[in-house]
Amino acid sequence: MPTLKTSVLEIELENPFILASAPPTASVESIDKAFEMGWGGASLKTITPDNLEMVEASPRYETMKSKGKIIGFQNIELLSHKSVQYWCDGIDYLKKKHPDKVIIASIMAPVERNEWQNLVKILNKTQIDAYELNFSCPHGMPEKHIGMAIGTSDEISALITSWVKEVATKPVFVKLTPNVTDITLIAKAVEKAGCDGLAAINTVQGFMGINLDTLDPNLCIDGCSTYGGCSGEIIKPIGFRCVSQLRSCTDLPILGMGGISTWEDAAQYIALGSDAVQICTEVMINGYGIINNLKSGLLNYLEEKGLNSIKELKNIAVSKITSHEKLNKNYHLYPDIDNKKCVKCGKCVKICAESEYHALKNNENCIEVNKNICEGCSLCAQICPKEAVTMKTF
Ligand SMILES: Cc1cc2nc3c(=O)[nH]c(=O)nc-3n(C[C@H](O)[C@H](O)[C@H](O)COP(=O)(O)O)c2cc1C
Repeated sequence: MPTLKTSVLEIELENPFILASAPPTASVESIDKAFEMGWGGASLKTITPDNLEMVEASPRYETMKSKGKIIGFQNIELLSHKSVQYWCDGIDYLKKKHPDKVIIASIMAPVERNEWQNLVKILNKTQIDAYELNFSCPHGMPEKHIGMAIGTSDEISALITSWVKEVATKPVFVKLTPNVTDITLIAKAVEKAGCDGLAAINTVQGFMGINLDTLDPNLCIDGCSTYGGCSGEIIKPIGFRCVSQLRSCTDLPILGMGGISTWEDAAQYIALGSDAVQICTEVMINGYGIINNLKSGLLNYLEEKGLNSIKELKNIAVSKITSHEKLNKNYHLYPDIDNKKCVKCGKCVKICAESEYHALKNNENCIEVNKNICEGCSLCAQICPKEAVTMKTF
């Protein structure tokens, strides 16, 4: 029988599902509940030095929906409002009650050695399992040169990592931003500076648009708005890409995240190189209870695939990601149209013609494929409303 038990460095996890640093980990009371319900660990809402002033805007969330379902989320929330002492007491309380759960202290401070090191020295005295350096919040608070202002600079990221490593008594993960041209540059810099692991991704900077009736921004704070961090399903391809790129450049453990809502998403993050995963937005939409399906789904999948552990699933797809240059250009698929499913709506014929190729033709009772013209792009299969087109070799 496979197991969901796994480990990251020396840290033992009863399952690979960790709550990401965010509102679901903003209070001891709620983390306590999440642990009772089966989460393997929690990365605390980012802790900052008590003197760092933080004033939140209202409202601070906006969503993007498709057919009534939330597919994207945007926030302009800042960091934990709780004091450092609150968290020290809270960590000890949680660890006493849940000794087998993993607690990661997400931290952020102004770019001063003392500020980072003092915070770490205080948290060193607690029973946290690891640090996660938040170099990646897109809106909190670049004007103070923190958050993503750190994580977009390889030099500053490396500098702060080395300051933290000088004093930290627990493993140090760096949480990276996807809002850079090359995430591997930052990863390599913090690895060289001594970090023990990576967490990726934080939110993707975005803007949720304008209400065309009022001409106000959709996320509207007294008539104005600002760019925020997008999360949830819409960012999943960016998260997959970042984790895959990170795995291609380092052997450090990776805590993968970004748009995970199902066990299938989590399994893919692991297959692409994550050691464990973190989740925020799906919990904000549907609550801690999603953990039951995540755990049972992933366990069943391991069993079906004949895999015994998360470590056996980890990296399984890594060798399949390569450069465009190295892809086999002699490989060619053509559309195969299932006439039982096809309703002759003609959409594939029209779209193929309007997107360059003219390779499909309405021919009496069926759609004909001209293989001399068809480049096998798969657009017809992607847009067919009846899923009647399959790409096949001939
Ligand atoms: C409302 C909100 C607040 C967040 N606050 C933090 C934070 O304090 N520290 C941090 O490192 N990440 C924070 N994040 C980012 C999440 O931890 C996570 O990296 C991101 O949302 C992607 O994962 P998801 O798609 O599962 O939400 C926040 C995200 C949201 C939506």
